[in-house]
Amino acid sequence: MSTQTETAAGAARKRRPLTAAEKHGVLAMPPLDYTKEVARQTAALYEKVAHHIPAIEWPVHAPYVYWINRLKKERGAVILAHNYQTPEIFHCVADIRGDSLQLAREATLVDEEIIVQCGVHFMAETSKLLNPDKTVLIPDLRAGCSLAESITGADVRLLRERYPGVPIVTYVNTSAEVKAESDICCTSSNAVRVVESFDSDTVLLIPDEFLAQNVARQTSKKILTWKGHCEVHERFTAEELLAYREADPGLQIIAHPECPPDVVKIADYTGSTSGMIEFARRRQPGARVLLVTECSMASNIEQEAKGVRFIKPCNLCPHMKRITLPKILDSLIYMREEVVVDPAVAERARRAVERMVNLKTN
Ligand code: 13P
Ligand code: SF4
Repeated sequence: MSTQTETAAGAARKRRPLTAAEKHGVLAMPPLDYTKEVARQTAALYEKVAHHIPAIEWPVHAPYVYWINRLKKERGAVILAHNYQTPEIFHCVADIRGDSLQLAREATLVDEEIIVQCGVHFMAETSKLLNPDKTVLIPDLRAGCSLAESITGADVRLLRERYPGVPIVTYVNTSAEVKAESDICCTSSNAVRVVESFDSDTVLLIPDEFLAQNVARQTSKKILTWKGHCEVHERFTAEELLAYREADPGLQIIAHPECPPDVVKIADYTGSTSGMIEFARRRQPGARVLLVTECSMASNIEQEAKGVRFIKPCNLCPHMKRITLPKILDSLIYMREEVVVDPAVAERARRAVERMVNLKTN
């Protein structure tokens, strides 16, 4: 290579932002033995997941839990985990837990330079939008979402052309590109109030058709939507819920608003994942609660609402399940996978997320 080309390559390297690994460095993989020290340091954490992980399996998880907690301190990192993360992530390594809105709000408050997002890609992207100068990592970049996959920025531009003047609310389960084309975002916990924050009689609420239909029942506004569905919640049926209720008339049914409307109509309570946890916490001991949502929520909730019996006809979210303890450890060691958003898209997408976060909806 000539000196001139070398200089050009060096200059190009200087112009591009440093990767997370270049900025923070890479560490050596620690030994993953179940030592006495690891057993002692993780014993209290094991108590929180003992209902879910047999004692014989703990020596496999414990070294990861130990090293993740140690390295996140050394790195100055914070771990944000969604309510659908597995119990060993949710209870043993997460610093902040919550539903999508809580995680977005908390992301605006963190002091740490590195955020490890245990959830799906749109959640990590939202954290990055709110923290453009921080390093945001997701342990597996392939952790997607069927709702986010259902719509593109070009689709939203077409909707705007077709419905001029109609405000566009996009569910936070979308890509930054889609958020950038919308007026504001919403989550399952504030969708009704976000929709009602507009003067317009008609509002586009995209891309979750079922969420939009469930919101439409709670507002006088005309709601237009899209044909996206959550592949986890669309599978629940009214028939199966009615069969459970017939077998146990005292059963309380709680469902996520991504479920089809005929499922939501049967439920005693519908709300965000954190709303469901709160509902379960307020039950009397001995209550029987049917959880119409993702499987890990059921395991996580059990710890929060002791004495309540949960019935779990749950469906797994394959995307959430891509996040595992070994991959979180890899994130902290190798600083991967870094979440980057095109700055031109990021600015407009951030506006839509910030409008939601700043709206005093709950
Ligand atoms: P919540 O905002 O209620 O946590 O929902 C996120 C999600 O992906 C549910 O499927
Ligand atoms: Fe997406 Fe449904 Fe998985 Fe939530 S549960 S991340 S909405 S596919």
